[in-house]
Amino acid sequence: MLLLQRAVALGVALGYNAWVLGAETPASTSASSSAASGAFGSSASPVFIKDAASRVNLFVGTTNGGHVFPGATLPHGMVKVGMDTDSPGNHAGYDANPIYNATGFSQLHDDGTGGVSCSALVVQTLALRFMRSGKYIRGMPDVSGRAEDATQGSPDDAAEPGYFSTNLSTDIRVELTATRRAALHRYTFLKATKTPRIVVDITNDGQMSSTDPVMDLDPETARVTGGAHFEASFGPGRYHAFTCVDFKGEGYELGPPKEYGAWLADFPVEQTVTITQLYTSFTDQLGAMFTFAPNPNGTTSILARVGVSFISSEQACANAEAEIPDFDFEGVRSAARAEWSELLGRVQVNPSGVDPEIVDLFYSSLYRTHISPADYTGENPRWNSTEPYYDSFYCNWDTYRTLYSLMALHDPARFAQIVRGMLNIQQHEGWLPECRGATAKHYIQGGSNGDPIVAEFFVKFHEHAQELSVDPNALYQALLADAESQPPNWDVQGRQVNIWKSLGYIPSDVWERSGTNSKQVSRTLEYAFDDFSISQVAKILGRTGDAKKYAQRSENFANVWNPNITFPGQTDIVGFMQPRFANGVFNLTDPRHCSIHDPLHSTCFLNAQNHDGFYEGAPIVYSQYVPHDTTRLIKLQGGNSKFISRLNFIFDQDYFDSTDEPSQQIPFMYHYANRPGLSTQRSRQVIAEFYNTSVNGLPGNDDSGAMGSYVAFYLAGLYPLPATQQFLLSSPYFPEISFVNPVLNTTTTIRANGFRGNPKSGTGGHVFVKSVKINGKAWKSNCFIEWDAFTSGALIELELTDDINVPCGASTDALPPSLSTGGYD
Ligand SMILES: *[C@@H]1O[C@H](CO)[C@@H](O)[C@H](O)[C@H]1NC(C)=O
Ligand SMILES: *[C@@H]1O[C@H](CO)[C@@H](O)[C@H](O)[C@H]1NC(C)=O
Ligand SMILES: *[C@@H]1O[C@H](CO)[C@@H](O)[C@H](O)[C@H]1NC(C)=O
Ligand SMILES: *[C@@H]1O[C@H](CO)[C@@H](O)[C@H](O)[C@H]1NC(C)=O
Ligand SMILES: *[C@@H]1O[C@H](CO)[C@@H](O)[C@H](O)[C@H]1NC(C)=O
Ligand SMILES: *[C@@H]1O[C@H](CO)[C@@H](O)[C@H](O)[C@H]1NC(C)=O
Ligand SMILES: *[C@@H]1O[C@H](CO)[C@@H](O)[C@H](O)[C@H]1NC(C)=O
Ligand SMILES: *[C@@H]1O[C@H](CO)[C@@H](O)[C@H](O)[C@H]1NC(C)=O
Repeated sequence: MLLLQRAVALGVALGYNAWVLGAETPASTSASSSAASGAFGSSASPVFIKDAASRVNLFVGTTNGGHVFPGATLPHGMVKVGMDTDSPGNHAGYDANPIYNATGFSQLHDDGTGGVSCSALVVQTLALRFMRSGKYIRGMPDVSGRAEDATQGSPDDAAEPGYFSTNLSTDIRVELTATRRAALHRYTFLKATKTPRIVVDITNDGQMSSTDPVMDLDPETARVTGGAHFEASFGPGRYHAFTCVDFKGEGYELGPPKEYGAWLADFPVEQTVTITQLYTSFTDQLGAMFTFAPNPNGTTSILARVGVSFISSEQACANAEAEIPDFDFEGVRSAARAEWSELLGRVQVNPSGVDPEIVDLFYSSLYRTHISPADYTGENPRWNSTEPYYDSFYCNWDTYRTLYSLMALHDPARFAQIVRGMLNIQQHEGWLPECRGATAKHYIQGGSNGDPIVAEFFVKFHEHAQELSVDPNALYQALLADAESQPPNWDVQGRQVNIWKSLGYIPSDVWERSGTNSKQVSRTLEYAFDDFSISQVAKILGRTGDAKKYAQRSENFANVWNPNITFPGQTDIVGFMQPRFANGVFNLTDPRHCSIHDPLHSTCFLNAQNHDGFYEGAPIVYSQYVPHDTTRLIKLQGGNSKFISRLNFIFDQDYFDSTDEPSQQIPFMYHYANRPGLSTQRSRQVIAEFYNTSVNGLPGNDDSGAMGSYVAFYLAGLYPLPATQQFLLSSPYFPEISFVNPVLNTTTTIRANGFRGNPKSGTGGHVFVKSVKINGKAWKSNCFIEWDAFTSGALIELELTDDINVPCGASTDALPPSLSTGGYD
């Protein structure tokens, strides 16, 4: 969860306005979900779900703080066009709760973040010919069956991958679709109108941050070009966004606009063609207004094509002309849909015996892992390069744990492009990107969490690096830069490495000028994992000395372990990660600090006075955070049985925080104490309690797909260990799940023999893994599988039992690997 209550990032918004004359009220039905029932293939065929995109519900997590973006985008598209509403904290623009009114349809959003979006227009009557309007109330006035219950979402909105539609109380139907750098809007005036009007708003980015707006309109063609500077969503910088808007009548010749003018702070300024001279200071509505000719022969439907660029408005026009040359709404929509169907269809689940909601939850979660980062190739304002340019990493701290490991399974070519883009940024800026949006750097949350992302790529695809145009040397140099070279400002890039190298932890009481002295304990733990990921790459490259050096540095997590702290009132829970001064003395901090049971009610978000060591997690949560050496952690915590009771305590007392990433691995940690059944049950209880397909089906921010990818893994019965060859294993929610990998040209199937369904509450059931066979041969562990199964393609068969006490296996190598036991050698 990213909690910075600042808004953000949208460049351009588009509103509309219409004169409504008497007309028949259209019959309308309500629809709040796009999930249709899927087509099930036969179990003999590897294709179970013929159109995986049909199982996506885009409205999951669109109210109640999920901040999910439900609008139209291509996979990792730059343009994300969607409806904005006037709800507070509408970080992705939209809120499903129908009490909030629509304010416009804007082009740039992120998914599930602490940053916002854009809205457009609140129009006042100023001239008779420019009609009065307010906000656009959602829903036709007399649609029957509108849900009063906000949890059902707005019944007037519908969406599917690549497409969004709504019906407004002004009897205008709005439909949106997108290509990578352009959006196509269709405004259908359902009641006869003589004066269809549309407003283009250049300045409103949802956080009222624009400066230096420029807008020009062409009175003959109605083309609008312009742009403005905006504040970054979650960081100190600013960015410049540009647009280019053209109109076309659908089924009739639109002709020149009947009226036109600049739209300036709620005033139409008739027959002006620019706002440059009219602009004095910030106003949330600056742009253009048109009255067009209606269709003389039937329903008026007007298309608006909106190109976007971070370079110039000329480039925004070129993007729109190249990507949407003929305003073919259905063509653009079906191309987007086809791209989504192909991508999501690479993961196939057998739905037989599975609650259809679980299938929808799976594909909706998988869908959200493909919104960010976004492909801005050709739109980098800072330098020219032929390499891909990806942005909207928001933030790597959120996504490195699970998102890229999922991408490795089914979308490695995209993963390679993202890595190339990251390396290119490192070569020009000195450090790998950490958090970004709309070309601006944002605040770092943990370590240099680009390290485990590029390391994850390299560990899994080094043999394909050349074919995927990833330069191993450039990749390694980028990791070394993060590990060895202190940046001018570690709040936006790189790490506080000088002191990390000298002390082996980030002390509480050292203030350096180049970054904030905060989150010292959580940064120590992140730096340790970052260095582990570098050691994994060094090993593959044959750099044995470096591999050893970074593996040793990754054990520095133990430097902030204070063995003498006892949990208040729990004499058997002893030892916690704690803040430490430069002289080695610990600064005692309550293990409940920042948790829901913190007696001081502190929070550990970025905007808090966070000088006490922890970020988005209590000491009791961070005391579990050592993904690469859990065996050593178990020793520090007093052995298996103490470790298990501590995990139980964390869940039973609600210290597990499903909304924040540092908790994501905790349900699976019983594996390391040889109790995989407990992991299976905990992870299933987490799904049952916190994740579902309703509009409030996320417990917190989606965090650019971090939560989506975590849920997808839990449902697949896997949990990834980034930058390693291993995946922790549980049982899938499906009798069978397959991953098609287009780069490896393999299919790997996990089949749960004797599958008997999933207990609704997550508790008990015939779901525990008793034994595993890979390609017909007994496999050593019930607790993890190796990447080999994916490179060669394999059938992984699980034998299930209802005995929760199953162990990982008989031999010591049945336990998942840990660094201190030589697990990664
Ligand atoms: C939406 O608009 C209607 C009609 O103007 C108004 O009654 C309602 O209060 C608005 N909703 C919000 C959340 O402002
Ligand atoms: C919106 O209006 C169109 C056209 O009248 C209608 O076909 C559609 O069912 C409506 N959608 C919803 C969700 O009410
Ligand atoms: C309206 O229909 C008439 C008769 O079919 C046709 O000649 C005319 O071009 C149409 N007008 C427009 C603006 O499409
Ligand atoms: C990129 O190249 C173009 C064309 O040569 C040039 O106009 C532009 O200034 C360059 N951009 C940057 C950021 O160097
Ligand atoms: C923990 O307590 C032991 C025994 O009193 C002591 O020797 C050790 O120095 C303490 N460690 C820390 C980090 O305070
Ligand atoms: C020591 O920890 C307390 C919280 O337990 C915190 O308020 C204080 O700022 C810390 N002192 C330093 C110097 O970091
Ligand atoms: C869906 O999940 C949310 C958020 O975790 C929860 O509040 C809600 O009760 C769940 N709804 C259902 C129907 O299970
Ligand atoms: C992928 O594998 C299939 C089946 O093994 C084979 O027929 C095909 O030629 C392979 N394609 C590539 C690009 O290697």
